[in-house]
Amino acid sequence: MDLKQYVTIVENWPKEGIKFKDITTLMDNGDAYRYATDQIVEYAKEKEIDLIVGPEARGFIIGCPVAYALGVGFAPVRKPGKLPRETIKKEYGLEYGKDALTIHKDAIKPGQRVLITDDLLATGGTIEATIKLVEELGGIVAGCAFLIELTYLDGRDKLEGYEVLTLMQY
Ligand code: PRP
Repeated sequence: MDLKQYVTIVENWPKEGIKFKDITTLMDNGDAYRYATDQIVEYAKEKEIDLIVGPEARGFIIGCPVAYALGVGFAPVRKPGKLPRETIKKEYGLEYGKDALTIHKDAIKPGQRVLITDDLLATGGTIEATIKLVEELGGIVAGCAFLIELTYLDGRDKLEGYEVLTLMQY
């Protein structure tokens, strides 16, 4: 299946000059959403994943159906102030902005093999911060899976030494 036909390119959103890749038109097509999920499930099976970790908000949309299909857990990575118990935190730079991400301190058991999921690999800042959170808790980052990679932003440079799957490249 050619997944790109389900992605809508929105010109000049959220800022002038940005060609936003809107995946909602992929998610609301049952066949396309299932096909994309299945690709990541197969990848996760090869990597013998114990747990899925995804950053809010779109990392949840990608990761949760994969976790369900595998029968493994899902641990959310969230912006500060959203998780109710003790967390650890990492700051990161975005394609357009700056923020921080947190995870519950007990979300990962040391030695667990983790697959990180998100919709988009842009500059790689989000995924880099998520990797640091997982590793600080003793998790092994066995793979990173994305729907879309913006190759011109070189996010992969931040992922040297890690296994990366991207289903579409722009
Ligand atoms: C977007 C996207 C990725 C991240 C990619 O999330 O969903 O998580 O940016 O960019 P990067 O590779 O340059 O870090 P955003 O921070 O907009 O949050 P949202 O999913 O909650 O809208």
